[in-house]
Order: sequence, then C-alpha cells, then structure tokens
Amino acid sequence: MKNVKAGKIYFYLGKKCILNDLNMNVEEGNIYGFLGANGSGKTTTIRIISEVFKPNIGKIIKNSKIQDKKKIGYLFHRDSLYESLSALDNLELFAKLYNINNKDQKISQLLKEVKLFDVKNDKVSTFSQGMKKRLSLSRVFLNNPYLAVLDEPFSGLDIEAKEWLINYILDRNKTENMTFIISSHDIYELSKICTKIGIISKGHIVKEQKIDYPLEPTYIEKLYKECQ
Ligand SMILES: Nc1ncnc2c1ncn2[C@@H]1O[C@H](COP(=O)(O)OP(=O)(O)O)[C@@H](O)[C@H]1O
Ligand SMILES: [Mg+2]
Repeated sequence: MKNVKAGKIYFYLGKKCILNDLNMNVEEGNIYGFLGANGSGKTTTIRIISEVFKPNIGKIIKNSKIQDKKKIGYLFHRDSLYESLSALDNLELFAKLYNINNKDQKISQLLKEVKLFDVKNDKVSTFSQGMKKRLSLSRVFLNNPYLAVLDEPFSGLDIEAKEWLINYILDRNKTENMTFIISSHDIYELSKICTKIGIISKGHIVKEQKIDYPLEPTYIEKLYKECQ
C-alpha cells in the first residue's frame, strides 16, 4: 500500500526547473531516507508534499488515511515556533489546535524525552538552535501522526539527541507502523534506520531502493556516490 506517490512532478521557479520529472514512492511503514546534494530539490519536494507549493505538472497521491492534514506531521527546515512563548505554551497551543486528548500527560512526556522539561517555562527565543529543533520534533510527534515528514531532522542536534531521535523513530515505526520521510545528509544516521532510500539529483529521483538489514556500513554511501 502506498502512502505517498509523486508522479511525474515538474516544478519551476521562474524559468528555472527545480523538480524535473520527479517520481517518488513511499509505502506504508517505510522509513524513507531522502538523500541528495545541497540544492538537489529535497526541501522543494517536501514543500510540495506538504502542499506549501503546487507542482506545475504532475501530482501527489496520498493514502486515504492521510487525507486529513492532521495525520501528517512536518518538521520544516525553519522552525515554525512562537519565539515569544515558552516551550510549554508552544506545545499547548498546538495541542489545542489539534484537539489532542490527554494533552498534559503527552506534553510532559515529550518534554522529558527531548530533555526540555526543566526549561519548559522559558521563552523559545532564549533557546539554542538544537533546543529549538528538539522542541519542533516534540511538536511533530505530539499529534501522533500517521506519516512524519522530517526535513534534515539531525542537523544541529547533539549526539544524545540524535540517539534519542533514532530510537524514537525506530520505536514508533515498530509499534505503530508510523511512516517516515526523512531528508538528510547524515548517511551514518540514515543507515541505522532506513528501510528505503530515494536519491535525488538535479530535481530528479535517480534511484529508489529497499534496504535489507544487516547493512554493510558503506552500502548507502556507495549507492549515493554511484548516483552523483
Ligand atoms: N526561493 C527560491 N528562489 C529561487 N531558487 C530557489 C528558491 N528556493 C530554492 N531554490 C532553488 O531550488 C533548488 C532546490 O533547492 P532545495 O529544494 O532547497 O534543495 P535541497 O533541500 O536539496 O538543498 C536549488 O537550486 C535552489 O537554488
Ligand atoms: Mg533542504
């Protein structure tokens, strides 16, 4: 069963072709590692999946289970947090918008997991980039999405937070079959979690491949280099 299928997507900014006949296939329960050089079109693809941008040609077909936008969690490149509010107020506001049951318990649990519980009443403007990233991640998971789309989730995280995220992704995938699309340059991190890899070059997905474990540590790197 497909969760997200992008078919023959073309996207232009002015005359510049940013996505060029892009085809992407993400099946239910995949942890889809989305790899590509800087400027290859990963963020643009994620913006198209999230419907921030509309493709000029082609379309994205989503599983009926994620037609409700609340079923998809997004981590965008830029944090979409309210800087003048505390970490706790940011999550509470989001929980109200999304009508989340049992919100107090879920918020406390996530704040503890991302190690922000002790600073929960501090304004986000006082947080480091890594702390903001951890708060943004906790917001993505607060709603228990069916599909989580994460744009460079590892960048800016310290070793401990990276480990937490890897374990969290694996656990949610195993226990709830949560699907992930993860854009990243961190081949080392991706090789611990991905069940499928999509490699994008110049706005075109040049390779999609299922990953079997145990994995040779350099397998994804080799695959990536072959596609450049
Ligand atoms: N606002 C913009 N205006 C013009 N070009 C842009 C804009 N945003 C992205 N691009 C171009 O689109 C291409 C793909 O960018 P992006 O999707 O951000 O790549 P990635 O996330 O893989 O680094 C790049 O060539 C970039 O220069
Ligand atoms: Mg990007």
